[in-house]
Amino acid sequence: MQFQWYPGHMTKAKRQMQEDIKLIDLVIELVDARIPLSSRNPDIDELGKNKSRLILMNKSDLADDVASKEWAAFFKEKGYFVVELDARSKAGMKQVTAVVMEACKEKIERDRKRGIKNRPVRAMVVGIPNVGKSTFINSYAGKACAKTGNKPGVTKGKQWIRLNKNVELLDTPGILWPKFEDQMVGLRLALIGAIKDEILNIDELSLELIKILKEYYPGVLAARYSTEENPLSEDAEPVEVLKQIAENRKCISRGNELDYSKAATLLIDEFRSGKFGKITIERP
Ligand code: G4P
Repeated sequence: MQFQWYPGHMTKAKRQMQEDIKLIDLVIELVDARIPLSSRNPDIDELGKNKSRLILMNKSDLADDVASKEWAAFFKEKGYFVVELDARSKAGMKQVTAVVMEACKEKIERDRKRGIKNRPVRAMVVGIPNVGKSTFINSYAGKACAKTGNKPGVTKGKQWIRLNKNVELLDTPGILWPKFEDQMVGLRLALIGAIKDEILNIDELSLELIKILKEYYPGVLAARYSTEENPLSEDAEPVEVLKQIAENRKCISRGNELDYSKAATLLIDEFRSGKFGKITIERP
């Protein structure tokens, strides 16, 4: 399968981020907890070198809790601070604040050694499209926090949201572009809906999803799409599994034939809306 992104737009975004990143101490990077690695652009490591790093594994309400723990350990081992999050709930924000403060401690200590006192730590949210950056900024900064005005030395137009006396957040997130290092990365991004469906082959995508579900969550397809007369056999070839889904969900075209594309769309929609439960389609 071939995937495309928007190179012109992304080049501009990268340049903007290179500028913004100079102004900050802490990079708050959002990833999708269902595909924590495929939803990152590893270039952020180069862009954000010498900065404190926090990874928020967002949409963890949709991801497998056990897998999320494995991923959190994976990132922590590499030196990132990590929080599993559902950005739409206020509940997770307390934990973010605690970890941001922990990450800031290092910075404040470094400042102190250099004789700099009371300079707030500045943070910036980054991530690929649709991981929940705006949702996070809204819930985290909320209405309670006043925006600080432009200050000398800060690029004109930059707005900082003061979170508390120690931390300020840049109000616009940095947009990273997904990186299709291999086909599987593009595939996983497509499955969670991070790539426009119009440019995808949904039939092919559904066959890949069948393979992934069989591997990581044996039994879920059978549990959802079997009927008494026609129990679904997960051991069959993916295309055969799709056929069974079409049969059991009565995906029929006008000519009274089985409609595989309808079944493929149904499968992908049900996956994206969490009908299979909390699922992570990538492992450390
Ligand atoms: P972005 O700025 O990174 O592009 O992402 P944005 O905040 O716009 O969020 C993209 C979508 O993801 C939104 O859904 C948002 O509600 C949803 N979202 C954000 N955080 C979470 C989370 O932790 N869990 C879940 N399940 N969803 C999350 P949308 O369909 O575009 O809009 P709507 O459904 O909110 O109307």
